[in-house]
Amino acid sequence: MAKKTIAVVGATGAQGGGLVRAILANPGGEFAARALTRDVNSEKAKALAKLGAEVVAVNVDDADSLRRAFQGAYGAYCVTFFWDHFSPEKEQAQARAMAQAAKDAGVKHVVWSTLEDTRKWVPLTDNRMPTLQGKYKVPHFDAKGEANAFFSEAGVPTTCLNTSFYWDNLIHFGMGPKKGPDGKLAFVLPMADKKLPGIAAEDIGRCAYGVFKRPDLIGKTVGIAGEHLTGAQMAAELGKAMGQEVAYNAVTAEAYRGFGFPGADDLGNMFQFKADFEKDFCGARDLGFSRSLNPQLQTFAQWLGANKERIPLG
Ligand SMILES: NC(=O)c1ccc[n+]([C@@H]2O[C@H](COP(=O)([O-])OP(=O)(O)OC[C@H]3O[C@@H](n4cnc5c(N)ncnc54)[C@H](OP(=O)(O)O)[C@@H]3O)[C@@H](O)[C@H]2O)c1
Repeated sequence: MAKKTIAVVGATGAQGGGLVRAILANPGGEFAARALTRDVNSEKAKALAKLGAEVVAVNVDDADSLRRAFQGAYGAYCVTFFWDHFSPEKEQAQARAMAQAAKDAGVKHVVWSTLEDTRKWVPLTDNRMPTLQGKYKVPHFDAKGEANAFFSEAGVPTTCLNTSFYWDNLIHFGMGPKKGPDGKLAFVLPMADKKLPGIAAEDIGRCAYGVFKRPDLIGKTVGIAGEHLTGAQMAAELGKAMGQEVAYNAVTAEAYRGFGFPGADDLGNMFQFKADFEKDFCGARDLGFSRSLNPQLQTFAQWLGANKERIPLG
């Protein structure tokens, strides 16, 4: 039987890459991978082609290229790139373009990588955290959550996939343990004793692969995580993996917002939201369900076992 093609936006990145590799790791499976990239000649794109992906050029800012890239596909994985530009409006324009292209191409199952619109929990009038960019509490969450409607309004069969904090942020996003003035390592997280749902970035794509195998999830919102851990638990696991003590430095969200790096205010609000609404946020990311989509789902300790050498110790 002919394979059903999944067109994967962001295929050279964390989420999309995991999905392409999950599809290609199952050569007997029902799907084929179409890896979408702006540069088909990059090393990452060539590596995906070597694994067996069809590699196709796309720029999600160009509606025609998106339409061509989705043409003939059964499924599409749609993701946006907030941290490339910090613009919720740009993220939404890209989401709208992907929804329209999926509609025009007659895609049968879209998986939209999204997050909660936090303003449903923390309206702009709620002063527990500052309003950012005029109309958001957590811009990179709110823009995605608001964009869920673009897919349903376009009449595209969609599963909204609520993702989780990548543990890979400890490697790539400067969130690893830092040495204090006393020379001891400390892991900073502004979440007091509340749990943070986290996941190995590679597992997001593997879970998305599981979602594509489940057409009964069309029209639903699902959430995934590898584990729900407190900052103290994460610090303890980090200490075990690194063979030295790692303290937990539970700064306040306000202090975190003041760290001054680009996006610190957005992330401070995000962690505060996750802490204040721990039950809802963790509840929306069931671990058993995530494992049912992706039986290889890693725990934090397993992820650390494979990645601890890659974490820079500042
Ligand atoms: N970090 C976290 O903890 C976390 C957690 C949940 C959700 N998220 C969300 O994840 C999203 C990013 O996903 P990711 O981490 O998978 O991204 P990523 O690893 O940064 O990769 C994104 C890929 O998308 C491609 N790309 C960028 N701009 C493009 C464009 N205009 N047209 C076509 N392709 C483009 C790039 O590939 P080429 O250069 O090959 O074109 C890049 O490799 C963000 O919106 C973020 O908010 C992050």
